Amino acid sequence: MVCILTNRHHFRGCMSPTLPSPFITGLRCLRCGTLYDLHDAPYVCPHHANTGSDLGTLDAEYDYARVAAAMPPAAIHADPDRSIGRYWALLPIGDRRSLPPLAVGNTPLTHAPRLGRPLGLSRLFLKDDGRNPSASFKDRASAIAVAQAQEQGREIVATASTGNAAAALAAQSAAAGQANVIFVPKSAPQAKIAQLLAYGSTVLAIDGSYDQAFDLCVAACAEFGWYNRNTGYNPYMTEGKKTVAFEIAEQLAALDQPAASGFVAPDALFVSVGDGCIIGGVHKGFRDLLSLGWIQRMPRIYGVQSVRSAALYHAWREGRKIPRPVEATTRADSISVNAPRDPVKALNAVRRSDGAFIAVEDDAILEAILPLARLGAVFAEPAGAAAYAGLQQAVKSELVAPDETIVVINTGSGLKDVNAVIQATGGVTVIEPTLDAVRAAVS
Ligand SMILES: Cc1ncc(COP(=O)(O)O)c(C=O)c1O
Ligand SMILES: [Zn+2]
Repeated sequence: MVCILTNRHHFRGCMSPTLPSPFITGLRCLRCGTLYDLHDAPYVCPHHANTGSDLGTLDAEYDYARVAAAMPPAAIHADPDRSIGRYWALLPIGDRRSLPPLAVGNTPLTHAPRLGRPLGLSRLFLKDDGRNPSASFKDRASAIAVAQAQEQGREIVATASTGNAAAALAAQSAAAGQANVIFVPKSAPQAKIAQLLAYGSTVLAIDGSYDQAFDLCVAACAEFGWYNRNTGYNPYMTEGKKTVAFEIAEQLAALDQPAASGFVAPDALFVSVGDGCIIGGVHKGFRDLLSLGWIQRMPRIYGVQSVRSAALYHAWREGRKIPRPVEATTRADSISVNAPRDPVKALNAVRRSDGAFIAVEDDAILEAILPLARLGAVFAEPAGAAAYAGLQQAVKSELVAPDETIVVINTGSGLKDVNAVIQATGGVTVIEPTLDAVRAAVS
């Protein structure tokens, strides 16, 4: 095995000896309001317990006037680079050329009238983030992690993951030649583990839960001085994930509702939730656009969890700031989380956008894979399909209106977990290799 220990102990506990962006003015703790200077910002605010869901999550603040001057909408729309690099002044990197040469983003947004019809929705759109290079949404954040690590000259990037963030980090690291260490629960689907091994990561499969892998990764990064990409812990991951909002707004304006700025927000948006970092990123992206005056209003944001992993749903219903941990048992492995690590951003996303959390049965999640594929032509892993299962429930509860513009984000490709699809479809019919058998089978 390659030696992965390093003596860069001066990186312990803080993120960056260099400025991650000339447009970011500081990192603010969303719990106590402390503003940290970029030069010596910690990963999380030290004034909190910083275990489980009790993290002092930080949020990057931008000088929007400078952003708008450096990167006006017309320049974005004219940029031939279709990847997330086109939003460079709103990213926490010093130079867009630091992004690894494995283009992330520019995933399709498509109108899905056949999928919307049975629900009585005329303006349903699918954003298929399974079409990213490692086949999940997580490429958006991992590209930022590798870019930052490269700008800072860090030897090792590490992450804990239910699988997709790790696969994304592995792919982006391979593209950039960045050494990396991955902590995954040993129960992660084989396809995700295969990706890690193929891309050449150092894979530590933990005989335990994702939550244990998370804590172990934090401890290892502190001990060995590694750059920590952990979701909800590294505040810059939100900044990568928010690019999905920029794309949705840009694509909606181009496809459907022309706007002077070239950006328009949908009425409602559905996304699945585990730790809460993706939904927090979606919210941040639309808030950036609103602060810049490039959209006129926020979409309502709906976070969808499995009833078997619903810590944030319960916290939202009970009016809590910090969720109580649950014993997660959902079949949708990517959203199987006991103690969500990005609760503040996730709860803010739903509460401040006038959305809701929705909890759906595992059966509904698996069944949702089929209409998504057959009527929307999007092949989703269970966690991705959960967002559509949430929309089905929202229609029943009349949370959305028939003529609203609604976006469902698929966060991961169905190829990540084919056993779930086999389970949902019941598998294939086996026949003898004869025409009579064909006749009998199709009659
Ligand atoms: C496919 C997929 N969907 C949804 C999620 C949930 O994202 P978050 O944990 O940021 O809420 C993940 C996270 O691993 C994922 O991989
Ligand atoms: Zn704080």
